[in-house]
Amino acid sequence: MKFGTIGAGAVALAFAREALATGHEVVLSRRRGPDSLAGKVAELGHGASAATVEKAANLDYVLLAVPWPNVEDALRGLPAWNGRVLIDATNPFIEYSPKLVLADLGGKGASEVVAGLAPGARVVKAFNSIVTARFNEGPMKNGGRRVIFVSGDHQDPTDFIKSVIESFGFVAVYLGGLASGGRLQQAGGPLAGRDLVDFGTL
Ligand SMILES: NC(=O)c1ccc[n+]([C@@H]2O[C@H](COP(=O)([O-])OP(=O)(O)OC[C@H]3O[C@@H](n4cnc5c(N)ncnc54)[C@H](OP(=O)(O)O)[C@@H]3O)[C@@H](O)[C@H]2O)c1
Repeated sequence: MKFGTIGAGAVALAFAREALATGHEVVLSRRRGPDSLAGKVAELGHGASAATVEKAANLDYVLLAVPWPNVEDALRGLPAWNGRVLIDATNPFIEYSPKLVLADLGGKGASEVVAGLAPGARVVKAFNSIVTARFNEGPMKNGGRRVIFVSGDHQDPTDFIKSVIESFGFVAVYLGGLASGGRLQQAGGPLAGRDLVDFGTL
């Protein structure tokens, strides 16, 4: 698969490293344009490239990894989604310092808000609940495999993202659709930021 990313910060780069290591291609994008990503692309190596946001977002699977206050701007004016898949890794923080402050979503789930800003996209929520330092540390912890949660309303892309997560070595746990499962894993939800580990069987 050739994945696009909107955003090329900590989360997108952590995802890109794993995706490239498992044989995928990744096209990174960010506001400052593709030329600003030359160093990152060289560092990531074979299979990595950079493009405009419009081009990266025109691929079949696109990771959204921008700060919450920038989500609306990042999704504005992109090519029609027409069923292409938006992997929502965002969390609805509007402030990080001196303390974390969550956005008021008016009772909506964060990925439902994202889906509303990307009409026609099949949204799968994933990679938002794992702190990037742990993602970079890798799937193994104390002899078990770390869990990454997935929520979505469309079976094929949700299954595909689960298989991608498993191929990275993590355990993919499906929590249900965006409205219910998404709320469990988004920042402020009961499963947000938890470093759960599956030890398999005896
Ligand atoms: N860090 C974590 O541990 C973690 C874990 C899970 C989920 N998350 C969530 O994932 C999202 C990304 O976090 P991060 O830590 O990767 O952030 P980050 O390191 O600050 O990177 C943000 C990226 O978004 C890009 N960006 C901002 N506005 C944009 C726009 N309008 N169009 C295109 N690109 C834009 C920035 O590019 P420019 O520099 O060009 O503006 C930058 O590459 C956030 O919603 C965060 O809550 C974070």
